[in-house]
Amino acid sequence: MADQFDVVVIGGGPGGYAAALYGAAAGLSICLIEYDKVGGTCLHRGCIPAKELLESAHVFRTVARAGDFGVETTSPTMQLATTMERKQRVVDALWKGLEGVLKGRKVTTIAGTGRYRGGGTVEIELNDGSSQTVEGRSVILASGSVPRTIPGFDVDGRFVLTSDEVLELDALPRTAAVIGAGAIGCEFASFLADVGVQVTLLEGLPKILPGADADVANVVLRSFKKRGIDVRTGVRITGHEPGESTTRVQMEGSEPLEVDTVVVSVGRRPLSESLGLDGTGVEVDERGFVKVDQTCRTSVPGVWAVGDLIATPALAHIGFAEAIVAIKDILGESPVPVDYGRVPWAIYCHPEVAFAGHSEESAREAGYDVVVSKHQYRGNGRAMIVGDPEGLVKVIAAKTDDGRAGQVLGVHMVGPWVTEQLGQAYLAVNWEATVDEVAHYIQPHPTLSELFGETVMALTGRALHG
Ligand code: NAI
Repeated sequence: MADQFDVVVIGGGPGGYAAALYGAAAGLSICLIEYDKVGGTCLHRGCIPAKELLESAHVFRTVARAGDFGVETTSPTMQLATTMERKQRVVDALWKGLEGVLKGRKVTTIAGTGRYRGGGTVEIELNDGSSQTVEGRSVILASGSVPRTIPGFDVDGRFVLTSDEVLELDALPRTAAVIGAGAIGCEFASFLADVGVQVTLLEGLPKILPGADADVANVVLRSFKKRGIDVRTGVRITGHEPGESTTRVQMEGSEPLEVDTVVVSVGRRPLSESLGLDGTGVEVDERGFVKVDQTCRTSVPGVWAVGDLIATPALAHIGFAEAIVAIKDILGESPVPVDYGRVPWAIYCHPEVAFAGHSEESAREAGYDVVVSKHQYRGNGRAMIVGDPEGLVKVIAAKTDDGRAGQVLGVHMVGPWVTEQLGQAYLAVNWEATVDEVAHYIQPHPTLSELFGETVMALTGRALHG
């Protein structure tokens, strides 16, 4: 007879392992199926290693300008092997930690490929070649996503890379074309440029970071250009032609671009084909995303889907949030659905970008009459002290009937450590606080986060410094 569990989870990335941990914490018996390492894309091929490399770039930049602080050094050089070793140590320590927590919560982790077989049945092709069947009262699908590529750019690990390969580089290219200026493209362009690679960033749309507020994206654009990144927007790439040691990227309306390496960062696609969903009744859309309702229920009762497998923002913390929603639903606790228009975004290029809620454009498109306040980090004491005053905070508030600023609709930040400063802005947006309510609270001085307080206070009509 098949082993029985309260919940069987297929996929051990942030969506799947969070479901396992949260479910186990609530007393459910959990089986977690993963054919690779628990931690998924985020821990092994995404968030953690990418941010670790970006931190190396931060150290490199800091050392390069140490002289400004009266600290004499020689010019920094990048020892990529050491950088990569440190990245791997961080990843491995977190991986071991995660394995330990799963074990501590008594989650049964099985190394193999899970295929959903209808009802509560999941068949597992074990990594050792044998097979096993498990039964869950509920099933959570969380098989994640893989990088998308574009026609004519087959990933060969030499001329054409995706984020998976960049994170394992053993030598830096001299020149690189990064295709796609979303989160991944901007993070890798920033990293590569900071460590001395000549980068050209190619984006099909008219602006970089298309999802970010235009003022924020412009600050990143200016910084990239100042640091020597050749940013080209509105380009149509038609293919590439590899030579001996370089390849020529072809574009409509301009000369081919000769580079050592092409990094393709044009989005990710859901990995639903490995789940064996055909004929099970679990509906999948034309792009491969599993269809779900607000509480992550699929079209089959008793089966939920979370994370990059569903058509919601492909962010680890959204996977965590969806896992909690699914487990609460399984427990019959009527969870509050994720409010996707107000989730936190954090992009770790230099300068960093962080936001929650409406941008100025999207608020106007949604029909709001808005009042906007913008303040620059160059007026902030801590930003001057750390020597990183590039960037701004922008707060978008709804206009009240008497023409004043009311509810905070969105907060968009670009600048030093903004990913760490977003927290209170995220709360303000999601708590549906008004600018008067937020302005009442004290910001410690001197901190970078004072700029958020200052920007909100300006909307009350009485700013302190700005
Ligand atoms: P993305 O969808 O965020 O950006 C892809 C970019 O490529 C878009 O700007 C798009 O207009 C452009 N593009 C698409 N096809 C193109 C073409 N043929 N030529 C030129 N440009 C083209 O995808 P990305 O950056 O690859 O990230 C994948 C997912 O991972 C996203 O959902 C992203 O939000 C998430 N992610 C988030 C991070 C963060 O928030 N820090 C970090 C890494 C990934």
